Amino acid sequence: MNVPVDEAQFLTMLLKLMNAKKTLEIGVFTGYSLLTTALTLPEDGKVIAIDPDKEAYEVGAPFIKKAGMQHKIEFFPSDAFLVLDDLIKNGEEGSFDFVFVDAYKSDYLKFHELTLKLVKVGGIVAYDNTLWYGSVAQSEKEVVEDLIKRYRNFVVEFNSFIAADPRVESSLLSIGDGLTLCRRLY
Ligand SMILES: C[S@@+](CC[C@H](N)C(=O)[O-])C[C@H]1O[C@@H](n2cnc3c(N)ncnc32)[C@H](O)[C@@H]1O
Repeated sequence: MNVPVDEAQFLTMLLKLMNAKKTLEIGVFTGYSLLTTALTLPEDGKVIAIDPDKEAYEVGAPFIKKAGMQHKIEFFPSDAFLVLDDLIKNGEEGSFDFVFVDAYKSDYLKFHELTLKLVKVGGIVAYDNTLWYGSVAQSEKEVVEDLIKRYRNFVVEFNSFIAADPRVESSLLSIGDGLTLCRRLY
């Protein structure tokens, strides 16, 4: 479930190049990409991390503690839609440098409308797994594995939407299982 090491290294590099200080992660699991982010942020940086799976988070929590990174992390054991709505209501629009989305692929289009409000103009929203095991380049009937089949059309639809979305400049990187970077233009 975690991003592979080369993708984590890439995220580290990207966050440093951007001088990111305030970030958001949707889909934490045991916290590998979260710890990567926290280690990269400056001492006064902050990452808001959201995942309803508290049990998985607790598996990784000792490693976050050992790395001395708890002070940079605010974890919400919740469905991200609720937290994002609250952040918007609480005036956090346009305040995040970077958002990493790695949750259910069927929700990506809905997340996009919210994350675009929360990220600042010029900031980046990154979506993981946008190659979906390469299935986005296959015809529907060529895809046989259940899990891949279940989400393939959502990812294809998401990719087409992003490619035509005038609010962002985007790039789909063939790293890991595909990582789409969206830079908010306005
Ligand atoms: C692929 S894992 C995340 C892996 C993590 N980003 C990493 O690379 O270390 C996906 C996670 O998304 C979470 N998730 C699914 N739907 C969600 C939602 N609506 N809000 C927040 N998290 C969600 C799942 O509970 C699961 O732990």
